[in-house]
Amino acid sequence: MVLMLIKTAKASLIYVLTIVCILFGAHLSFAAGDKITYPQKEWSFSGITGTFDRASQQRGLQVYKEVCSGCHGLRLLAYRNLKAIGYKDNEVKAFAAENSVNAIDDEGEIIERSARPSDKFVSPYPNIQSARAANGGAYPPDLSLIVKARSDGANYLHALLTGYVEAPSEKKVPDGMYYNKYYSGNLIGMPQPLYEDGVTYADGTKATQEQMAKDVTAFLAWASEPELEERKKTGIAVILFLLVLTTLSYFAMKKIWAPIKNREI
Ligand code: HEC
Repeated sequence: MVLMLIKTAKASLIYVLTIVCILFGAHLSFAAGDKITYPQKEWSFSGITGTFDRASQQRGLQVYKEVCSGCHGLRLLAYRNLKAIGYKDNEVKAFAAENSVNAIDDEGEIIERSARPSDKFVSPYPNIQSARAANGGAYPPDLSLIVKARSDGANYLHALLTGYVEAPSEKKVPDGMYYNKYYSGNLIGMPQPLYEDGVTYADGTKATQEQMAKDVTAFLAWASEPELEERKKTGIAVILFLLVLTTLSYFAMKKIWAPIKNREI
């Protein structure tokens, strides 16, 4: 009897530990190994119940469009994907039509036509070489997956965009490089992109550097992981299901074994 109790306690402990590891394991593994630490911001999309903030995403799209898209592409996103962050069909159509793409006409000639919702975001440069040539040799990476590609991606991106400060006097900053306290090595080939009132938000929000950095990060976090909300919803449903199943199995086990446990030996 005592042995059984110990066994049950052990099994429950392992179960609870497994669930704790699943829930928090990812966070622990990210904490190790980072040298530069970034300010930890509150993101509506972090945590197990996180969702995106639509208004912030839409402002972020505006920042991307008016500031970042001059140098950075977003080639994995199609214009029609913007419907997921609250745009209507006609808005998406109009937004796509502001860009033009190469196409082939009936005679096989290459022509230019305006982009359609099904087209991917048009990149500012036709290839890596021309991107480098226009940026003093530095390559502005495509931003489609940047939030996932960097560890602690959202906080990193936010820190990078707000991390331009005066270089310390002993640090030499070569021409075409800029000092950023959060970039590894501190010298980056990207000039400071965000200045107060750099954009005029359509919804009237004050465009401080901090606000723009938060919004464009929220937008790019979604671009990196559009299925985040769906994934979290499924995760919660699965955990609830497992909890119910565990409880049911426990009581079923008790009932099934009751006659044997109560048997006189
Ligand atoms: C004038 C062109 C220009 C603009 C505008 C610009 N960038 Fe960049 N960006 C660059 C270049 C060039 C690099 C590569 C820097 C390097 O390799 O040193 C870069 C690099 C980056 C990186 C990669 C950093 C890393 O960890 O490797 C991110 C993220 C980034 N930019 C985000 C943005 C965002 C977001 C915006 C808009 C708010 C923006 N950039 C606007 C030129 C630009």
